[in-house]
Amino acid sequence: MGEVIGFVSLKGGVGKTTLAAAIASELANQHRKKVLLVDANYSAPNLGLHMDIIAPAVSVHDVLNGKRLSSAVHEKFGVDVVPGNFLFSRQFSPMKLRSKLSRARNVYDYIILDASPSLSDEVFSSLLASDRLFIVTTPDYPSLSCCMKTARIAKQRGKEISGIIVNRVIDRKFQVGLEEIQESTGIPVIAMIGEDKNVHRALIERMPVNLTRRNSSFSREIKKIGNTLAGKKERRSVLREVFFKNYSKDEVNRELLRQSFYQSIFKK
Ligand SMILES: Nc1ncnc2c1ncn2[C@@H]1O[C@H](COP(=O)(O)OP(=O)(O)O)[C@@H](O)[C@H]1O
Ligand SMILES: [Mg+2]
Repeated sequence: MGEVIGFVSLKGGVGKTTLAAAIASELANQHRKKVLLVDANYSAPNLGLHMDIIAPAVSVHDVLNGKRLSSAVHEKFGVDVVPGNFLFSRQFSPMKLRSKLSRARNVYDYIILDASPSLSDEVFSSLLASDRLFIVTTPDYPSLSCCMKTARIAKQRGKEISGIIVNRVIDRKFQVGLEEIQESTGIPVIAMIGEDKNVHRALIERMPVNLTRRNSSFSREIKKIGNTLAGKKERRSVLREVFFKNYSKDEVNRELLRQSFYQSIFKK
């Protein structure tokens, strides 16, 4: 049975879409997993821009309006993508997402949802459809407050957050740190990803950066998250083993998450 993983945050611009595209393509290409990636940001869908799908003939909106899920699947970079369509004007029901994905769970190892930031049926559609949720945030107080609100709303609906991914870190001295984020949310931070200009370059190329620039700082962090979700132990370089004997907090959190994934997914 596939696991539905939602990338959520009530704040825009923090990197939900970028991370959903990168992690989906990482699991498909580096771990040979069968991955479905769905644009669940219905009112401002832009996942297609990251995955080179422009103006799809059939979109997630059509699926929520009655069409079969398979009719909206576009195969890109080894990932089955269900994009949104900016020009969609007819009515659709966002709450149908969960039932629309039920059969796909038998086909895919992972179903990744790129959620909407708007506090409406759009975000609830992803919350309800997901087995696991990750909050994406940037290391600043406005994002942190949205992060806390997202966690609260998920919890009220009985949904646990599996981890927080802190993205677009520029200077740890002037930004909110891992400990403060963990303390104020009670949720483990599983990755700290730096601002990386390669991400902007990748958006112009319409291809996830981890597929083309494996050595960029962004791709190195995606590799770690990919390993965690695929249940693989992180390998430490000899240099790291010699000079940084202690594990960083996010490293420890990833290992704990890997073990919980291993229990719940791989033993199913
Ligand atoms: N680590 C990063 N380094 C540099 N730019 C990033 C990074 N993560 C995201 N971005 C950029 O930030 C912008 C917003 O990202 P996006 O994924 O669309 O956020 P969201 O889906 O949360 O609204 C995009 O232009 C994207 O290229
Ligand atoms: Mg987005």
